[in-house]
Amino acid sequence: MLGPVLLRASRSTRLRSAVEANGITRKVVNRFVAGEEDDAAVTAARHLHARGLTTTLDFLGEDVTDHAGARAVRDRYLALLLRMHEAGAAEVAEVSVKLSALGQALPGDGHTIALSHVREICVAAEAVACQVTLDMEDHTTVDSTLEIAGLLRSEFPTTGTVLQANLRRTPSDLAALSRSGVRVRLVKGAYREPKGVAHQRKAEVDEAYAHGLRVLMASTCYPMIATHDPVMLREAVTAAARYDRSASDWEIQMLYGVAGRLRDEYATQGCQVRIYVPFGTDWYGYFMRRLAERPANLTFFLRALARG
Ligand code: FDA
Repeated sequence: MLGPVLLRASRSTRLRSAVEANGITRKVVNRFVAGEEDDAAVTAARHLHARGLTTTLDFLGEDVTDHAGARAVRDRYLALLLRMHEAGAAEVAEVSVKLSALGQALPGDGHTIALSHVREICVAAEAVACQVTLDMEDHTTVDSTLEIAGLLRSEFPTTGTVLQANLRRTPSDLAALSRSGVRVRLVKGAYREPKGVAHQRKAEVDEAYAHGLRVLMASTCYPMIATHDPVMLREAVTAAARYDRSASDWEIQMLYGVAGRLRDEYATQGCQVRIYVPFGTDWYGYFMRRLAERPANLTFFLRALARG
């Protein structure tokens, strides 16, 4: 029951100001966010690389509503890619990008603006041999995001796409992509969605996820199995073996600060494990979605507040 409340709260500007103003929150946020500056993200990535993991770096931000804000996010990614290259991290790490941070929701030509900004990011990424994945946001953005991903792939074939198992449309999106050979990250879905478009019960989402991962493993796509769910991870290993995929033909992805033991277990077994490393000051929405995913995170957060 708490999950939907927290997901609603993730879009509340009043609560956002209150949470951001509270210094203690920052300590809890640090568990999930690598830091504020590019250097902090690159340092976190290098530590993870030293442990045999790969990474995807995400400059936090979403729902940008003005042109200058969208350009600023593009510029942060361009600077990040240079920094990653200088640090020798660009080929091991990739970047994850939210199109709403690049202006997708701007009235009128938001779709075109986001495409133009993300294209510049892809040009810069290609120059340093880094890959790009487009994160998926709430269901109202899926058509635009899939269309942009498709357009980018004609120029930058490794551009990755995310599909959300909770959405009822996902089996048909998966079928459309299944012979394309593209990189697809499968997630359960982190946004609060209406009944008509998304499964509401955890059991239904899990069933859809398990089905989705089998379809992906059987397809020509490169599956990126993004979950901390031990049952789904076991399913993924079984399906990879069934479809004769070697360790380099698919990967597991997990979030920074979540399920470290599981992450290390799979890496030790020889699976490729990529960690999603968010950084920046605009952490509120991302942080609230992490709280919504696990009630224990909220308890941890409230305890820190109480300790003051
Ligand atoms: P589930 O929620 O069932 O959790 C399984 C177990 O994992 C829990 O019992 C708990 O132990 C652990 N766990 C899960 N979340 C936790 C947390 N926050 N803190 C501590 N433990 C936790 N979503 C989206 O809509 N668009 C996107 O682009 C992405 N991108 C993305 C990238 C990567 C690399 C990952 C791992 C996830 C995403 N997501 C996402 C988020 C995804 O949709 C989903 O909300 C979370 O991964 C949580 O779901 P699980 O699959 O882990 O399963």
